[in-house]
Amino acid sequence: MLTAEDKKLIQQIWEKVTGHQDAFGAEALERMFTTYPQTKTYFPHFDLHHGSDQIRGHGKKVANALGTAVKSLDNLSQALSELSNLHAYNLRVDPVNFKLLSQCFQVVLASHLGKDYSPEVHAAFDKFLSAVAAVLAEKYR
Ligand code: HEM
Repeated sequence: MLTAEDKKLIQQIWEKVTGHQDAFGAEALERMFTTYPQTKTYFPHFDLHHGSDQIRGHGKKVANALGTAVKSLDNLSQALSELSNLHAYNLRVDPVNFKLLSQCFQVVLASHLGKDYSPEVHAAFDKFLSAVAAVLAEKYR
């Protein structure tokens, strides 16, 4: 459950992400593929070399979806419903993987945003990504 304070911190930090959104998305994916190579099995059709067009394109899509989520903190389920269907029914991504990508996205934020990614922001953003992951996984039940 995101508090009013969490929501404020999430929206504020996303303003700092704006402008780097696509690059951050791609870097998070690359970190996930490197740190958790098992995640590559979902992308057999991608060129997974550093900086590939597909990684950059997909990073942009993922970051965009997170941007939509930031704008929809009060109705995440509704905002991400299509994406939830896609991951559950079409892609059949094992929900454990959402935590792995979330983790990598946070490493990207921490390494680029420095002091702005304070412990309070980190805690709020962690709750946000958990909430997004919960929505993406809710159709599996
Ligand atoms: C596709 C978002 C986590 C695997 C997508 C798309 C978006 C997205 C926006 C494109 C949908 C479209 O084209 O209509 C997210 C978000 C995630 C997440 C916000 C978590 C925060 C994951 C994870 C995996 C995964 C953890 C697997 C390890 C895929 C695959 C596709 C996809 C295989 C299709 C790629 C393609 O063929 O173009 N995701 N995703 N996703 N996602 Fe996710």
